[in-house]
Formats: sequence, structure tokens, C-alpha cells
Amino acid sequence: MKAEDIKKILIAGAGTMGRHIGFACVMNGYSVVMYDVKEDAVKKSIDSIRSKIDSTAASGLITREAADGVKENIVGMSDLAAATAEVDLVSESIPENPDIKGEFFGKLNGACPPRTIFTTNTSSLVPSMFADKTGRPDRFLAFHFHPGSKLVDVMPHPGTSPETVETVRRFSELIRHSPIVLKKENTGYVFNALLNPWLLAALDLVSRDVASPEDVDRSWKEVTAMPIGPFALMDYIGLETVWHITDYWAKKKNDSRAQQSADMLKEYVDRGDLGMKTGKGFYDYGRKM
Ligand SMILES: NC(=O)c1ccc[n+]([C@@H]2O[C@H](COP(=O)([O-])OP(=O)(O)OC[C@H]3O[C@@H](n4cnc5c(N)ncnc54)[C@H](O)[C@@H]3O)[C@@H](O)[C@H]2O)c1
Repeated sequence: MKAEDIKKILIAGAGTMGRHIGFACVMNGYSVVMYDVKEDAVKKSIDSIRSKIDSTAASGLITREAADGVKENIVGMSDLAAATAEVDLVSESIPENPDIKGEFFGKLNGACPPRTIFTTNTSSLVPSMFADKTGRPDRFLAFHFHPGSKLVDVMPHPGTSPETVETVRRFSELIRHSPIVLKKENTGYVFNALLNPWLLAALDLVSRDVASPEDVDRSWKEVTAMPIGPFALMDYIGLETVWHITDYWAKKKNDSRAQQSADMLKEYVDRGDLGMKTGKGFYDYGRKM
């Protein structure tokens, strides 16, 4: 399938990233279905995307009439069979766990038309970990978004067809993003391969009680003159996602110091302090964002 033939997108996982990707797709003329196992997450995602469309109209970037048309192109569903009908491309943003993702892609393969391209927005896994589970490894790759940026990573696994790589690369341009096509699989793509060791070093300093999150952020910002430190960035990403990544790799590498950091993150997750989206993480934001 060529990128120009793509009409309908299924966003699987209606959380932080699903909303970001769903908004990008619907704003660029695609028909979008937001799917999640939780009905509440589906509803919240539709409300939040529709209100973002309204804000775009209010700021004068699109007309009120256009905004109303765009809002009609996005629907939410928690029934997988209904959500997958006539879908051309799936963008998956469910929890960062290869077993959960693998099981989901297995179900998706049974429900989607044969032509459908599957993509994962995983941050720290690689597509070959669950390519077989998709039942269509040639039409599967990682298509990874960076919140707050137009950069996207298009990362094939060894079994992805060149046609699928080109279709997803071109599709990313059609939703006005800026693609990097990786030459081979790499954990953390390009940017995250730089970012993840930095976040882990910051967590290590706090979990070993060397310094507070505020002081770690302050030392980074004052020396580099950058606007944000690692702990504020983790609050922005969402501490559940950061915990999933840290815990997975700590266990995989049998790394006791990284495990100590993961366990510290788990305390925040168990309290429901997930960062900006719940109003509290390492910092207190006073209200839900
Ligand atoms: N948050 C970020 O900054 C960021 C950036 C790039 C990539 N990612 C990746 O995107 C993915 C999702 O991250 P997020 O931050 O959006 O998470 P999130 O917790 O905000 O959202 C995940 C959603 O998936 C739903 N879900 C759970 N199991 C499901 C299933 N089996 N089927 C359908 N839905 C299911 C949950 O109900 C939830 O609404 C992860 O793989 C993460 O690594 C996150």
C-alpha cells in the first residue's frame, strides 16, 4: 500500500501518546478511531482532542467550519472488532511491556484487514521483540513520536519490507512530521539512546540519596543553560512510562542500582503521582494538566 492510499487510522491506546498521534492524524485529514481497553480513557481522549481542535480554531489556524468538520472525523471505541473495520494503518501506544504489546498485536492481526500496516510507538523496545506475534512482520515497524516535536523515527526490524518503510516514511510527511529512517534496529532509536542513560543517571543520584530532584535539575539547567532538567522532563513524560522502561531494563540486565531507581519510581506510581497528567510527580503542579 502507498501512503497516499491510507485513509483510516486506528490509534491503539488512548493515553498521553495516543492523543498526541490521534490529533496529528485527524488534523491532517485522516479518519481516526481512538481505541483503548478502558472506556473512560477513550472518552477522555476524544474530549481532549476535540478541545484541542477547538483551540486551534480559536487561535485562527483553521476556520470554525473546518474545525467542526475535523471533529467529525474522530471517533472512540473500546470494542476491538468494531474499531479495526477498514483500518489502513495502526499506531500502537499501549504500555511499554513486550508481552502486553505482543498479545495485543496477535489479537489485532485476527481483527484487521490483511492490508493494514501495524506500527508501534515503543520508546525503549525494538519491533523484532514482537514482530512474529503480529502475524504480518513484513507490514510492521516502529513509528515513534516525540511529544512536543515534529521529529519521528521510522525503524524497521530485519523482516520489514522496504515498501512498508517507504509508506510509513511518506505518511509521516503527510501528517507534517519530519522522519528519520533508521538503517537498523537500535534500542532507544537515536534521541532516546542519548536520553535514557541521562535519565537513569539522574534517578540513580536521587535513589542513592546523593541529591534531591530539584538540585539535580538545577545543576543541569545552570551549567547547560537548558530550560528543563531530567526530573521535570520525567514528570512531563509520565512516571508510569518511565517506571516501565527502567524496571524492564533493570530486570533484563540484572542491574541492582537501576532496580533501586525503578523501585523508587514504583512508589510514585503506586501513589498515583504520575507527573504533570495527575498534577503531581517529582514536582507538585497544584492541579491536573
Ligand atoms: N509518554 C511519552 O512521552 C512517550 C513518548 C514516545 C513513546 N511513548 C510510548 O508510547 C506508549 C504509551 O505511552 P503513554 O505515555 O501514552 O502511556 P499511557 O499510560 O498514557 O497510555 C496507555 C494507554 O494504553 C491503554 N491500554 C493498556 N493496555 C491496553 C491494551 N491491551 N489494549 C489497548 N489499550 C490498552 C491504557 O488504558 C492507557 O490509556 C509506550 O510504549 C511508551 O513507551 C511514550
